[in-house]
Amino acid sequence: MTDTSMTFIQFLLDERRRLDTDRDLTTLLHSVATACKAISNALKNGALADVLGSLESENVQGETQKKLDVIANEIFLKRCEFSGVLGAMVSEEMDHIYEIPAKFPKGRYVLLFDPLDGSSNIDVNVSVGSIFSILKLNDVPDTNSYDQVLRPGVEQVAAGYALYGPSTMLVLSTGSGVHGFTLDGNIGEFRLTHRDITIPADCAEFAINMSREQWWEPPVQRYVKECVEGEAGPRGKYINMRWIASMVAEVHRVLMRGGVFMYPIDEKTRDKGGRLRLFYEANPMAFLIEQAGGAASTGRGRIMEVAPKDPHQRVPVILGSRNEVALIEQYHAEHDAT
Ligand code: F6P
Repeated sequence: MTDTSMTFIQFLLDERRRLDTDRDLTTLLHSVATACKAISNALKNGALADVLGSLESENVQGETQKKLDVIANEIFLKRCEFSGVLGAMVSEEMDHIYEIPAKFPKGRYVLLFDPLDGSSNIDVNVSVGSIFSILKLNDVPDTNSYDQVLRPGVEQVAAGYALYGPSTMLVLSTGSGVHGFTLDGNIGEFRLTHRDITIPADCAEFAINMSREQWWEPPVQRYVKECVEGEAGPRGKYINMRWIASMVAEVHRVLMRGGVFMYPIDEKTRDKGGRLRLFYEANPMAFLIEQAGGAASTGRGRIMEVAPKDPHQRVPVILGSRNEVALIEQYHAEHDAT
């Protein structure tokens, strides 16, 4: 049984002793957890705190920014620049690398993050999350260009997310399993509640935005059609469907009980390469899913092996229970061979 008396920082210190992890990584993860607690707090009072709704501005992706997108981004920057171990930060909400102010020491770590994913859900009070990915470079990076941070997902040294749902959770991997922590409001600390999360290899649940079926590629249409056919179809069983439109909540469900989550490429997103961002969504979630024994694919290859060309690059995402992901990859291969 998980020892829920262990706080997040105790867990990090314990990992450091057992696995000899880097002291600077502990410091950084502690800063990230503090940022997530502050965002959780900013979300808590919703309309009462006048933080809902949109701003006039657009982010680098051309999407209208929500007030909370900007607040959460600022919280990440301010909480993490102080750590003294970062050489740069790269955010989904910014069109430039964030340079660590001169008054703070710099280090070789780079933090890439989506401060508030699924933010279209904020105004309707549905779960949202923050996603982060951590790289360790050979040197303090030159922040005048993205060159040094364009690393594939296999080079991540840690990744995780905070889920702001009925309770706030932090889910983390530093490369030795996936562990979940629940925010204890009484003491203001995350406490270990889910040690060594693993995803079952098989499942009977899928998640996809069905309204886009008309634009999907044939292998995805085939897979979903066979799921929906239930007992009478080739799968021979009822397969359930869910769609929250919040990737963090969706991935969390997959980590908790298995399933497959898909945002495949389609006719409407082909020119952009897909819908979800490689750096801020696909890579960190792929790291967690693989660490939990699942698989994460574009349909035609491992997500974490995609060579990035642009920090805001998008990719198709198919992740979850490994036998399901393998079947979807097989359908892509069969289609591409014809
Ligand atoms: O990329 C942001 C995001 O909100 C994800 O969290 C989510 O999976 C997806 O977009 C929802 O997309 P759609 O609007 O097509 O349901």
